[in-house]
Amino acid sequence: MPSAAHPLDLIPLLLCPVCGEQLEAAGQIAAQGLRCAAGHQYDGARQGYVNLLTGRGTRFIPDTAEMVAARDAFLGAGLYAPLARQLAAKAGTLLAGTPTPVLLDAGAGTGYYLEAVLRTLADGRALALDLSKFALRRAARVLPDALCVVWDLWKPLPLAAGSSDLILNVFAPRNPAEFVRVLKPGGHLLVATAAPGHLDELREVVPLLAVDTDKSERLGETLADGFEEVESVALQVPLQLAAEDIVRLVMMGPNAHHVDAGEVRAAANAAAGSDGAQLPVTARFTVAAYRRRGRR
Ligand SMILES: C[S@@+](CC[C@H](N)C(=O)[O-])C[C@H]1O[C@@H](n2cnc3c(N)ncnc32)[C@H](O)[C@@H]1O
Ligand SMILES: [Zn+2]
Repeated sequence: MPSAAHPLDLIPLLLCPVCGEQLEAAGQIAAQGLRCAAGHQYDGARQGYVNLLTGRGTRFIPDTAEMVAARDAFLGAGLYAPLARQLAAKAGTLLAGTPTPVLLDAGAGTGYYLEAVLRTLADGRALALDLSKFALRRAARVLPDALCVVWDLWKPLPLAAGSSDLILNVFAPRNPAEFVRVLKPGGHLLVATAAPGHLDELREVVPLLAVDTDKSERLGETLADGFEEVESVALQVPLQLAAEDIVRLVMMGPNAHHVDAGEVRAAANAAAGSDGAQLPVTARFTVAAYRRRGRR
């Protein structure tokens, strides 16, 4: 018997990106994939995700297998667990009183935060979207009950209007107009971003991409048309990083596209040493909740 949260339940929420018709399972998703009434077919992967990006695909560079492995190891060590707890608690509050809520994690990566959120909800059902099939392979493993879909968030989302109760968006691109469309009236968007000063101590030892300091202001502006802010909370997480943590932290994000792995390792060893010494670093996040405006 499939559980109440079986991914098959969510398939009717998916729309064919070519013609907009509802998608349906052609059999076992992993073996036969999904198809629409007009006959457009999408492959399912043995690893548990489905790829709706066909044709020319996308012009964005997805996270690589190496970046995903670094993120998995870093997050698996629990270094950002306070952020996961904060997101889970906030999602629980926002969804209180919503039976069997549908969550959409837009840019879910390895599913680390979505897993933490689902664990606190008795009956949440989830869709995980990401451009990286390497990330979704891992997400499908940790979230066997979620529907994991390879998709580009800058394109119209392959989801029915009003299909989601909560969108989770953690360090990932945002598409405000599409987020409004796929949320139910009164639905929420929960966003985590890096805040000014994030990992500043690390910047002194490794050249990192700059954090956009007026990000939270601009985030509010880009969301203003469709959303009202419910709450914005600053979260500081003091970390003690060993050399290996430093390497993973740098190589798990967009910095990986710009730095040399050997140079990062040398800098990490110089900063934290191989004898167990650790570098004190502060991670700074903003966790903001928004409510979708409008009744329709
Ligand atoms: C910094 S990671 C964050 C992942 C996850 N939310 C986490 O915090 O662990 C950014 C994620 O966004 C995904 N991504 C980047 N551009 C994207 C796009 N245009 N559409 C969908 N996903 C995208 C990447 O593949 C990556 O998994
Ligand atoms: Zn179709």
